[in-house]
Amino acid sequence: MSHPAYVIDELISAKSIAARIETLAREIHDRFKDTDKLVVVGLLRGSFVFIADLVRELDLPVEVDFLEASSYGDGMESSREVRILKDLRGEIGGRDVLVVEDIVDTGFTLSHVLHLLESRSPARIETIALLDKPTRREVDIKATWTGFEIPDEFVVGYGIDYAQRNRNLPYIGKVRFT
Ligand code: IMP
Ligand code: MG
Repeated sequence: MSHPAYVIDELISAKSIAARIETLAREIHDRFKDTDKLVVVGLLRGSFVFIADLVRELDLPVEVDFLEASSYGDGMESSREVRILKDLRGEIGGRDVLVVEDIVDTGFTLSHVLHLLESRSPARIETIALLDKPTRREVDIKATWTGFEIPDEFVVGYGIDYAQRNRNLPYIGKVRFT
């Protein structure tokens, strides 16, 4: 599949991301400080950089697990139909769970994943999304914590891809076609 030429304009610097994660980690710590059974669940693949930075700011006993849900394929539009491609390795019944997502866009992915995980009777579930595009929402859902609200732009970097590229950029940039 070939894609048109584009450039990437920086939207959120690596430094701003790091500063925001410090603040979020303090809030998460306050919420979960009394637990010794926190499972941090990263949604693959977009959250892998965010979850790595976030858990290293959390001074709590945490386990890390991953779940992969299908979303965009290689395009720029949400498929709306969410499928689980890789399930958790561990059990979450009776555990405290923090779901880590890269972007909440239409909201289909996070809402589907939450329903699935809630059916396994965790003690509690909270959610964190690095980015939120509120103007794109089709399902009424909001993460417990959001890193940054952004406009309706297609973004890449810091784990987030366009057609599997640009996940390794240390900052968040927006894609501009040339
Ligand atoms: P939703 O189900 O529409 O909320 O989509 C969520 C998923 O779509 C995210 O986890 C991302 O993987 C992907 N996504 C949404 N917006 C963007 C974007 O701007 N760039 C890359 N991926 C995106
Ligand atoms: Mg995703």
